[in-house]
Amino acid sequence: MHGDIAEVLFSAQDIHKRVQALGRQISNDLAGREAVVLALLKGSVLFFSDLVRSIDAPVKVDFAWASSYGSGTTSSGQIHLKVFPEGDLRGRTVVVVDDILDTGRTLDTVVRRIREEHGATDVRTCVLLDKQARRSVDIRADYTGFPVDDVFVVGYGLDYADRYRNLPYIGVLKPECYQS
Ligand code: XMP
Repeated sequence: MHGDIAEVLFSAQDIHKRVQALGRQISNDLAGREAVVLALLKGSVLFFSDLVRSIDAPVKVDFAWASSYGSGTTSSGQIHLKVFPEGDLRGRTVVVVDDILDTGRTLDTVVRRIREEHGATDVRTCVLLDKQARRSVDIRADYTGFPVDDVFVVGYGLDYADRYRNLPYIGVLKPECYQS
């Protein structure tokens, strides 16, 4: 597994420090208001579990699953929502958490649906990584962990074909691992 990584971009310690800082920022902004923190499966689960524990405010947790990738590294452009939030989001403050903002289609679709179909009034977004170079939709996250270049990264929840999620760090996957 580690041998498939060309370069470690963010160590477990870098990630821990940054997630703590994001948690403090979100806590300050919420100022004691209750929020629903919504994890986008599956990629954000490690980030999400650390992030919610660093938020010092009352939160509820919920999950949604939006898939844009098959087993490849490029988006199909079609965002398919497979799992929807279970709780009532009407009138709520929701913080949508994703692993990486790439083209922006996933987050844009989810945010719209959370507002328009689930009735949340205040929807904020938090991503661990921002791959700005590939953006095709006009969206910016309210909270961002780290900017990242246009490279395919895995670890700390991020996968290739559902592998590498359990790496404690984030690294660049060697191209030979996904190019046949
Ligand atoms: P969009 O393009 O909709 O994509 O912003 C967001 C989703 O694409 C996946 N993604 C990646 N997954 N390494 C990954 O493991 C990457 O470098 C990468 N780039 C995009 C990810 O699932 C994200 O939620």
